Amino acid sequence: MEISKVGVLGAGLMGHGIAQVAAQAGYDVVLREVDQARLDKGIGRIEKQLGRAVEKGRMEQSDADAVRGRINGTLDYADYADCDLVIEAITENLQQKLDMWRELDGIVNDGAVLATNTSSLSVIDQAAATRRPGRFVGLHFFNPAQVMPLLEVVQTVTTDEESLKTGFEFGERLGKTCVHAKDKTGFIVNRLLVPYMLDAIRAYEEGVGSIDQIDAAMKAGANHPMGPFTLLDFVGLDTTKSIADIMFDEYRERRFAAPPTLRKMVAAGFYGQKSGRGFYDYSGDKPVAVDPGL
Ligand code: 3HC
Repeated sequence: MEISKVGVLGAGLMGHGIAQVAAQAGYDVVLREVDQARLDKGIGRIEKQLGRAVEKGRMEQSDADAVRGRINGTLDYADYADCDLVIEAITENLQQKLDMWRELDGIVNDGAVLATNTSSLSVIDQAAATRRPGRFVGLHFFNPAQVMPLLEVVQTVTTDEESLKTGFEFGERLGKTCVHAKDKTGFIVNRLLVPYMLDAIRAYEEGVGSIDQIDAAMKAGANHPMGPFTLLDFVGLDTTKSIADIMFDEYRERRFAAPPTLRKMVAAGFYGQKSGRGFYDYSGDKPVAVDPGL
């Protein structure tokens, strides 16, 4: 199916990155937020990334201007009427997503494919809330979406072949490595990555090593770009806990259970990089590991 206009819902951490890579691939993009301040913040992040790309000689100024010109910010669902593909990247809350789809489904043209960037919810729960469960897929991007090469293309029990193919064609045009995943909570990557991150916390709780030693070990011993605690702070401790809780609810397996340290840190507001403190303190020139003392 030919896509020319892509709608992205949510200009937060994932949404702004998805909008940017779609515009870089030549699509016209409409990007919505719930208020002007959030929209300006998301578009500001895109402009900053494009500016950096020009500064570093990775992009011509004229190309950056063209990418920016293809992204239209809005507060209005009506601007999604003529989209061919709509990807939601709003808060990871099923009820909010269902409310949004119920409103949008009647506005977007019937031929369009709808997609969710959910990292942990079952895609079918959203698909079934629309009038087009056949034309609904999961498109799971990774943070930062501008850099991470993977796209999980998720097929539910209702997804038709044409919509699945559209998801793959879109991802390939973005230059992503596309993998096919079935609609099992966590898909492929989070099913493996989340227990790994939770196990790093358990290793710390059991006194195997300190936070910075465990990080150093996994970077140098497994060639990971970030150790598990740096990655936890990067993904967000609140986000990780919420994914773990959803996976634990679904599978009832200990490997998905949030360890007490994680639960307490989230309760204390230590969310990682975004709040200035997680397993590291980000207030100085460089991050310093802190003993959660819990
Ligand atoms: N947006 C856009 N570009 C970014 C960026 C961002 N947020 N962060 C970094 N970059 C770019 C930089 O501009 C730089 O590009 P350049 O080399 O052309 O100048 C390049 O990425 C490398 O960045 P840095 O030199 O600043 O830093 P690193 O080399 O350490 O790379 C990293 C940063 C890409 C984040 C790397 O550390 C990494 O790959 N970390 C692991 C990230 C990861 O695992 N993500 C997945 C998380 S799980 C997930 O998303 C699933 C969800 O469901 C929870």
